[in-house]
Amino acid sequence: MAEFPKLWRVKKSDSGVLCAMETHRPNATADQVLLDVVRSGVLAPSADNEHVFRFSVSEQSIDLWPSPEYSATLQRHRRVLGQLSLGAVVQNMTLRAGQLGFVVRVKWYFGANEGEGNGRLAKLILTPASGMSETAGLASVIPKRHTNRKMYFGPTLTQMEIATLQRQVNDTDAVRLIWPQGRERRRLLKLIWRAESARFLDQQLHQEIFSSIRFDLSWDKTSDWALPPGALEIELPMRPLFKALRSWPMMRMLNRLGVHHLVGLRAGLLPAWQAPGLGVIATTRAPVDGGAIEVGACMQRIWLSATQLGLSIQPLAASAVLPLRSESSDLTVDPATSDANNSWASIVPNATPLMVFRIGRAKPPSVISSRRPLSDYSWSG
Ligand SMILES: Cc1cc2nc3c(=O)[nH]c(=O)nc-3n(C[C@H](O)[C@H](O)[C@H](O)COP(=O)(O)O)c2cc1C
Repeated sequence: MAEFPKLWRVKKSDSGVLCAMETHRPNATADQVLLDVVRSGVLAPSADNEHVFRFSVSEQSIDLWPSPEYSATLQRHRRVLGQLSLGAVVQNMTLRAGQLGFVVRVKWYFGANEGEGNGRLAKLILTPASGMSETAGLASVIPKRHTNRKMYFGPTLTQMEIATLQRQVNDTDAVRLIWPQGRERRRLLKLIWRAESARFLDQQLHQEIFSSIRFDLSWDKTSDWALPPGALEIELPMRPLFKALRSWPMMRMLNRLGVHHLVGLRAGLLPAWQAPGLGVIATTRAPVDGGAIEVGACMQRIWLSATQLGLSIQPLAASAVLPLRSESSDLTVDPATSDANNSWASIVPNATPLMVFRIGRAKPPSVISSRRPLSDYSWSG
């Protein structure tokens, strides 16, 4: 395998912030290169900071396998969240491999191909590239991309910024990036509010959200799995109340007074309403599974491109993915309700929305999530 001029190592600084170190390693072995590529994949975002894949490397390829938890996940919206994240992971790996002088061929094993993979999710085969990678700029900001849940400030995005972000989906026929305006934007804000409120109204969703927050940590500490509470950017006086809401009996009682609407307002409506930009990424594929992987890859390119432009992003996935819950369960409470689908049809005609995000300028996040050591993502067979 070819030699590579540079490798980076990801480490935790004293403040817990992930940072990249460029180190000169002219005689890197194939395994070192593959592990470097995997490490870039691990830096991709995942719902609740829990990657759904495990990896193994052999000669020139990287195999991705489902984590035990993801294998056991049946709920449709959780499966799709996993696929979105996998798309971002493989996008990062492809970009980093390109920066190191490789092209990546990806074979996905889902739908009709599922049986061929012997349980794998995907196989990435690296071969030496003949020319320079055109996406080295995106690869170089992989370690700098983080979710930012602070309030954003204006001005609205410039035409140049929108065009730069839009270019990230141009090569993917089945993916659309939409910036709802006027009446459609108001409809989207309503959907966001309703879905973020539903996450506190429904017992199963309440359990999902609160079980992913590391309340065992103080508000200034990072965590290498799940969400450090400090990353949620909750105002100091609100923190004790928010922590108390993790008790379902307490939440259920307060919901009778409509408290879920207030929490949904703070978690979704307010930050989305005052953000200079609100984007929706949708797929025209049906069923959405392959489309979700493509949307995840596009989301990641958009996010890295935004990072290059000095813009911050927070995904707000609930309004897009919660309507999928009704496909996999006998829900008594459908948080998205049937008229959500009508609103979506007017915001994104003839496509299925899978990701909503807000974008703008912001101060750096108070706390950045970190990642487990690479060995924890290794597949044990
Ligand atoms: C598919 C997907 C859905 C996500 N949904 C949300 C969301 O609804 N709200 C939110 O604040 N963050 C959301 N995130 C961001 C993750 O919580 C975040 O990526 C993870 O905690 C790791 O942090 P990092 O992005 O700073 O590396 C989502 C990320 C992915 C990939």
